[in-house]
Amino acid sequence: MHRPYIVCHMVTSIDGKVTGEFLSRPECEAATEIYYEMNREYKAHGSGGFICGRVTMEGSFTGGWYPDLSAYQPVSKCLGHDRDCWFDDAADAKYFAIAFDPKGRLGWKTNVIEDSDPGYGGAMIIEVLTEQVDPRYLAYLEEKRISYFFAGKTEIDVPLALQILRDRLTPTFYVLEGGSIINGHFLHADCVDEISLVGAPITADKDAKPLFTDGDIFDFKLTHAEQKNGALVTRYVRAREE
Ligand SMILES: NC(=O)c1ccc[n+]([C@@H]2O[C@H](COP(=O)([O-])OP(=O)(O)OC[C@H]3O[C@@H](n4cnc5c(N)ncnc54)[C@H](OP(=O)(O)O)[C@@H]3O)[C@@H](O)[C@H]2O)c1
Repeated sequence: MHRPYIVCHMVTSIDGKVTGEFLSRPECEAATEIYYEMNREYKAHGSGGFICGRVTMEGSFTGGWYPDLSAYQPVSKCLGHDRDCWFDDAADAKYFAIAFDPKGRLGWKTNVIEDSDPGYGGAMIIEVLTEQVDPRYLAYLEEKRISYFFAGKTEIDVPLALQILRDRLTPTFYVLEGGSIINGHFLHADCVDEISLVGAPITADKDAKPLFTDGDIFDFKLTHAEQKNGALVTRYVRAREE
């Protein structure tokens, strides 16, 4: 497999949802703590970082801030490997925040995640883009020394993006941490090798989204089930033919 191993790690409601108000209810607190603790354990066991969709990155880290692109000159986009842009900071890093941001809508103030949780803070940001991006956004990323690469015209081609990550960076596994849309893209492409769930004892509202918004039928083997502080921790490994 010439791509990193992907563990999809999420908090879910009893009814298998991953977004919405249930996440901020007190009944979900223990599950959320376990989730963060497991993320730190994944890091301690060699995870190369976390992969999230644009909406999750905005909600968790950038808070919706966006730079004024009129201050930047467009960077010409050319095809092939030339359009990758990598900085020494990324080549030397060991832990990454991989943002699936097809239109370049995330406004970062530095090239690492600022967060007090060591499972997130200090992670080197990598932007995965498509050709929909405003070329001035590339100048902004370069000013911030944020590494980026293209993996598609309008949609991010998940296997291609993972292959580029494997080619350019050292980690051999990453944790996919939502939300529902990006998880669906990974499942649909059969790029989810393991599923790690922390089930909270609460149901979700009717607008909450499922673990995967897209997908197909794929079989997994249950490898772990544990009751922990009122939450249910389960792990499944993709059943692949050798
Ligand atoms: N329960 C948990 O453990 C957990 C964990 C993380 C997040 N969440 C929740 O999840 C919610 C956000 O989830 P979400 O499903 O709405 O959004 P999301 O998956 O975080 O982000 C979706 C966006 O990412 C971009 N994207 C991802 N994969 C792509 C691909 N292959 N090709 C093109 N674009 C791609 C698109 O950006 P554009 O829209 O810019 O095109 C897409 O709309 C948040 O409310 C958060 O609270 C829950």
